[in-house]
Amino acid sequence: MASLRQGHRKLRDEIVAGDSRALDRQHALGKRTARERLELLLDPGSFVEVDLYRRHQVHSAHLKARPHTDGVVAGSGTIEGRRVFVYAQDFSIFGGSLGDAHASKIHKVMDLAMSTGSPLIALNDSGGARIQEGITALHGYGGIFRRQVAASGIIPQFSVIMGPCAGGAAYSPALADFTFMVRDTASMYLTGPDVVEAVSGERVSHDELGGADVHGSRSGVATLVYDDETTCLHDVRYLVSMLPGNNLDPAPRTPECGAQHDERPSLAELVPAEPNRPYDMRDVVAQLVDDGAYFELHEDWGRNILCAFARIDGELVGVVGNQPMVLAGVLDRVASQKAARFVRFCDAFNIPLVTLVDVPGFLPGTEQESAGIIRHGAQLLYAYCEATVPRIQVILRKAYGGAYIVMDSRSIGTDLSLAWPTNEIAVMGAEGAVNVLFRRELAASADPGARREELVAEYATQYLHPHYAAERGLVDDIIDPARTRMAVAAGLAMLREKRHRPAARKHGNIPL
Ligand code: HXC
Repeated sequence: MASLRQGHRKLRDEIVAGDSRALDRQHALGKRTARERLELLLDPGSFVEVDLYRRHQVHSAHLKARPHTDGVVAGSGTIEGRRVFVYAQDFSIFGGSLGDAHASKIHKVMDLAMSTGSPLIALNDSGGARIQEGITALHGYGGIFRRQVAASGIIPQFSVIMGPCAGGAAYSPALADFTFMVRDTASMYLTGPDVVEAVSGERVSHDELGGADVHGSRSGVATLVYDDETTCLHDVRYLVSMLPGNNLDPAPRTPECGAQHDERPSLAELVPAEPNRPYDMRDVVAQLVDDGAYFELHEDWGRNILCAFARIDGELVGVVGNQPMVLAGVLDRVASQKAARFVRFCDAFNIPLVTLVDVPGFLPGTEQESAGIIRHGAQLLYAYCEATVPRIQVILRKAYGGAYIVMDSRSIGTDLSLAWPTNEIAVMGAEGAVNVLFRRELAASADPGARREELVAEYATQYLHPHYAAERGLVDDIIDPARTRMAVAAGLAMLREKRHRPAARKHGNIPL
């Protein structure tokens, strides 16, 4: 018995230790091993592994080696004491490629994550479908995708790309709620550089084709991008610890901090009175949320809108804000899509929405129109219209036209609309409106310049102030900018018990 136990322990230790030469190669590539990554990700000593002894059952001359784990370390652990399920692909075994056994292990932890209502975290480092296993590898991927879709909106899903993520494998991060990527070592594409060159003659590096910056700033597939694995995994921990474990559990609260209920006089100074002067919406967010701390997503993609998680009075909120510092905060195709996905996530996981509005309108032009601004703008509209979580809109400076409607206006169901006294809410700006309404009069005028000025001033007095909206119930209150944090916190407290059950239907048809 003792020798059996010793033999067992020896085998176990060997499997866990891995092949030292392969691990050295992994380190030489500037990457950590699967187990080292799990150590950084999970609370110390919390990892419980499943299927350590799993091996492929393929009998083929092309796949003679049968290493245990089959190239993926799977199981469960805790982050800040809360349960999560994880799998980490092990590039040192068959390049982390996915075959039948590898996929079955992943399916197992996904099923456990769903049945226990726990977040799922995937650490990807893989050459994709294991070529020697043919269609069974593809079948394994299909099983991952189907489970991800079934889990969407029920448990949060995190995908962390720390090496190659090639071929159809890239659909897994695309289906996740949050995708993290590490610069230099991570790449993600449907077809690699060799295929690209063979098909089109274009020569391109892994990084140019699907590096972290490409996906963080151009494709939008990566939500967050990091210089190194340690910082990346630290932030995965941070985000997981902020969010609810599933769509039925509340997000963890931090203790309320009464001292933060003071006025914030700097808010009025942060936002210039002139409607076209830029400022950084992040400075406004920092004034509104607990400890000035917020976690921004898609920082380099769709930079004209800001999406961030933060806490107000200890309660987790999703903040959406136009960013006047980039493209004057206009809504374009990418910004609409970015915010739509964020709103959908918050709604699915019962996270109240705070929308900070300072928007000149939708971006005009042939590029936007032909690229589908109508469809993407409709996605944001749809996301807000369907959102049943507490929703608070704060109009800071201006809100024009369709963009006013889309940015969580009263008409599409906001619960509380607050406006600063200085703002402009209207169909369009004074100049544009006067041009449309008084074209003939101006053409006939002896002094068109002076007459235009008069008309612009008249229009501004009549329409461009929040009282016009407040008198009609479209804005619930006009607030002193310095008291915005207090007003939003009071609104969140008022709406905390909000319950809404949408009418039964299979599902709507969001304009994807
Ligand atoms: C089997 C694979 C593999 C794969 C890598 N390996 N990818 N084995 N199936 N898909 C093996 C290599 O043979 C090698 O084995 C070891 O892993 C390390 O790979 P290297 O090529 O030496 O590493 P590196 O130079 O760092 O290049 C990594 C790589 C490259 C860029 C990922 O291996 C590569 O291009 N692989 C193929 C990627 C790909 O096209 N995958 C299929 C995509 S299609 P040895 O024994 O030499 O150490 C797909 C369909 C999914 O995934 C569809 C789902 C719907």
